[in-house]
Amino acid sequence: MSRHDEPIVLGIETSCDETGVGIVRGHTLLANTIASSMDEHARFGGVVPEVASRAHLEAMAPTVEGALAAAGLRLSDIDAVAVTAGPGLAGALLVGVAAAKAYALGLGVPLYGVNHLAAHVAVDQLEHGPLPKPSIALLVSGGHSSLLLVPDVARDVISLGSTVDDAAGEAFDKVARVLGLPFPGGPHIDRAAREGSGTAVTFPRGKFDDGTLDFSFSGLKTAVARWVEAREAAGETVPVADVAASFQEAVVDVLTRKALQACARYDVKDLLIGGGVAANSRLRALAQERCDAAGVRLRVPRPGLCTDNGAMVAALGADLVAAGVHPSTLEIPADSSLPITVVNV
Ligand code: KG4
Ligand code: ZN
Repeated sequence: MSRHDEPIVLGIETSCDETGVGIVRGHTLLANTIASSMDEHARFGGVVPEVASRAHLEAMAPTVEGALAAAGLRLSDIDAVAVTAGPGLAGALLVGVAAAKAYALGLGVPLYGVNHLAAHVAVDQLEHGPLPKPSIALLVSGGHSSLLLVPDVARDVISLGSTVDDAAGEAFDKVARVLGLPFPGGPHIDRAAREGSGTAVTFPRGKFDDGTLDFSFSGLKTAVARWVEAREAAGETVPVADVAASFQEAVVDVLTRKALQACARYDVKDLLIGGGVAANSRLRALAQERCDAAGVRLRVPRPGLCTDNGAMVAALGADLVAAGVHPSTLEIPADSSLPITVVNV
């Protein structure tokens, strides 16, 4: 980089319902601006891809302007553009990828198409400094639940396990619906659970002892729905706080158990938790407790960096620049099922 010691990277994220634009200088966060179309999806109880794509299109240029203003920069200050190339909703990704190509081409700077999951890992460096090599990462959100071995986030990410059915956040959202709580349900369950007991109801813990590092949450979701239905059929009131706390306990018990199994199996002493569900207060507390007991250091970005955002894409872009990785061509596609092993396209 000729103009600065560290590259100023613009990051664009449009894989789901958040139009995220972040700006970093190396691992220093300069701006993280987000426009969400969540309100437009809430009445459908889930993200509607067509609605999300249209909202990205409208929000893109204003969100870039907003991020530049927040950082006190102009477009001409940008050294590189990074964008989520996948995985995610195809039409939503397409808007970000097309915009990133246009900015990179117009500015004459390199373009980096990056993996959304690797970006969830890279973002923690904005808060807690360089990622130890290797680290284990547990990524839990509405769209993904994965355990990763990360020798080097810019070059080498290995999948150790993932959900075989629902994502962890998806289970939170579906159970919230059963309990009559608003969408997205995670934060509402988290809040309700504080008034309840995690041991009130023993819900099943899928794949708890199966020896794999995979997850399964659909059986748990069904068990909660059946339990609530039985109560209602008997004319009894549903103890929402206890059900929320017991469900939440089942999820975080399995997540933290498998994450620490991964650390032990690969002899890794650093665990990172990312994705929207990493905002969960019980997950953070139990993970800390179990990491302390196992002598593992825990890193969890602050909630605003855990949920989808542009800064995470910019952070990974800065890593790619620093690692001397080849930029992407202007021909790169948006790939809705980009495998986690592909850090950049
Ligand atoms: O990473 P994210 O913003 O978007 C993607 O899905 O990629 O994650 C959103 C998910 C939703 O399912 C939401 O219910 C969940 O994260 N979530 C939580 C909490 N905050 C957000 N789940 C449990 N506890 C929370 N405090
Ligand atoms: Zn995500």
